[in-house]
Amino acid sequence: MPQYEIMCGIVGYTGESKAQKVLIEGLSRLEYRGYDSAGVAIQETDGIHVICRKGKVAELAHTLGHFSLTGTCGIGHTRWATHGKPSEVNAHPHTSCDGDIAIVHNGIIENYAELRDELAIRGHVFTSETDSEVVAHLIEDNYHGDLVEAVRLSAMRLIGSYGIAAVCEQEPGIIVATRKDSPIVVGYAAGAEGGAGAASAEAASSASARNGAGAGAGAKAQKGVRGSFVASDIIAMLDSTRDVVVLADGQIAKLAPDGVEYFDMQGKSCEVTHTHIDWDLDLAEKGGYPDFMLKEIHEQPRVIRDTLAGRMVGGALVIDELDLSPEELDLTDRVYVIACGTSYHAGLIAKNLIEAWARIPCEVEVASEFRYRNPIITPTTVVVAVSQSGETADTLAAIRDARVKGAKVFGITNVLGSPVARESDGVIYTKANKEIAVASTKSFIGQVVSLTLLAMLFAQAKGKLTTPQVRLLFRELADTADQVERILSDTDAIRDAALACKDAESALFIGRGIGSAISYEGALKLKEISYLHAEAYAAGEMKHGPIALIDEGFPVIAIATKSPTYDKVVSNLQESRARGAKIIAIATEGDEDIKNYADYVIYIPKVRDAFSAITATVPLQLLARFVAIERGCDVDQPRNLAKSVTVE
Ligand code: G6P
Repeated sequence: MPQYEIMCGIVGYTGESKAQKVLIEGLSRLEYRGYDSAGVAIQETDGIHVICRKGKVAELAHTLGHFSLTGTCGIGHTRWATHGKPSEVNAHPHTSCDGDIAIVHNGIIENYAELRDELAIRGHVFTSETDSEVVAHLIEDNYHGDLVEAVRLSAMRLIGSYGIAAVCEQEPGIIVATRKDSPIVVGYAAGAEGGAGAASAEAASSASARNGAGAGAGAKAQKGVRGSFVASDIIAMLDSTRDVVVLADGQIAKLAPDGVEYFDMQGKSCEVTHTHIDWDLDLAEKGGYPDFMLKEIHEQPRVIRDTLAGRMVGGALVIDELDLSPEELDLTDRVYVIACGTSYHAGLIAKNLIEAWARIPCEVEVASEFRYRNPIITPTTVVVAVSQSGETADTLAAIRDARVKGAKVFGITNVLGSPVARESDGVIYTKANKEIAVASTKSFIGQVVSLTLLAMLFAQAKGKLTTPQVRLLFRELADTADQVERILSDTDAIRDAALACKDAESALFIGRGIGSAISYEGALKLKEISYLHAEAYAAGEMKHGPIALIDEGFPVIAIATKSPTYDKVVSNLQESRARGAKIIAIATEGDEDIKNYADYVIYIPKVRDAFSAITATVPLQLLARFVAIERGCDVDQPRNLAKSVTVE
């Protein structure tokens, strides 16, 4: 079973101060992101000492108190497991066979199994369940006296995403870091007394191959320690330096106590861009975004990529954590998706895909209803329980009930080892990482992508989709990450639409097919964070009630993307507009005609209708957030709502 790591926290320091203290402070700064184990590797005169603890950074700090480590160079990590249980063995740093090399890694090494087999033949022995450990062994294999070169050669073999920092016993005081699709930030601090770096410390945005001594670009003296820093998040080094280099994909940083050198993937010295950070700590925790919700909305392309990573193996779709044979999948003749809140809406989308692709009847039900009725369950019924937190009381109760009645239960959750994961027969972990804003955004996208994979898996097992069809769908699904990025790059039209409905008392969201499921999520987001009353309806129901609400200026938000029912949705827009509604349409790029029926058009890239939930939900999340901010609401912590509901 693949044991992937996802975005966790990396810190590294080399300088004049005790690394132990600097690393613990840096790791503490990253705690808000969520994690379940932590560890450090510190270079001592007798070799690299690695100390890891399950649990909190404070426990690691307490343990470190029993050692008298004095080394001034080290790396540290907080791990938030999605696969491979939280444990000391799985915690980072990971080491090579002889312990001479230690690494920390964020991301997913997709070809780790292949590399591990290759390295095992060459005598490497692996001790953890993680994909990350392979990186330490690969660097060891490539090490011939130059850590930069070993990291460079190793990175060229890695497929997937990674932020890596490595230390080597043979090169005291040196940390080498590199990245691809996972953030790595490097900084040099002249320290409180100033010094070599401070002498030439101009805040710089120009390129420099080396900062620190000699060319201390931006290394202005400030409180904190002196030396070079690496981290996955600027916040970990903010106390010591605000002048950083955000590594680009394929760049390598070689950190020494007196400065940093940068190389490209050809091993040549390269130019980098220095950035001065003037955010305060609160803003820095939010990655420079004004609130967690916006930060999490912007993480969605990463969530899509990570959720898909490693799922297509040798041209076949693989979800082996489900622990269900193709025969068992094929025998499934009824699916229930049970969930609450936003997770329930992900289920509504899954229903469309499971029925369309796999031709299995699928019902979606809020868990609080499911648990109190007597649904038809047979041994060939599969219940899919969707829960971001993995601890929602009603969802858990429904799982227990379904299992007693003989159903196979699969959990789709974001939290490893959560009750939903523990009590299900199989589980798919979404790769959203910890979500802090109460209103769920990136978790929803992770759930939709996971459920889409599940629908494809059922269809593959039932022979309803051929292997080439599954591959094509998978490629298009992967493309949605770039498409969401494009949506996020220009949000002016969404802001304009938000200004148009901020003073409304009520709003209606409509759509058909998958569009109606998206409408429910759009309406929920708006009411959750802006307290504006919002309802969602299948557009075909307009004439059966909701149209009575419409008068002059009433906002109607329509999912009017190109789909088999596009013309029908346009008719609903016409009948709404004729009664004075203000129409906001989410439409497909290139659809000029829609402007004839809508007051505001928010264009999104063209995708297959099956994947429109991923792209069309993003503008609705942003719309809700813009409206909430205009209305002066706290978007991260809306009144009366809790992130997880553990009571009935
Ligand atoms: C609460 C949260 C929602 C979430 C729902 C279900 O209401 O505020 O954001 O969708 O619970 O939570 P779950 O963790 O089971 O997905």
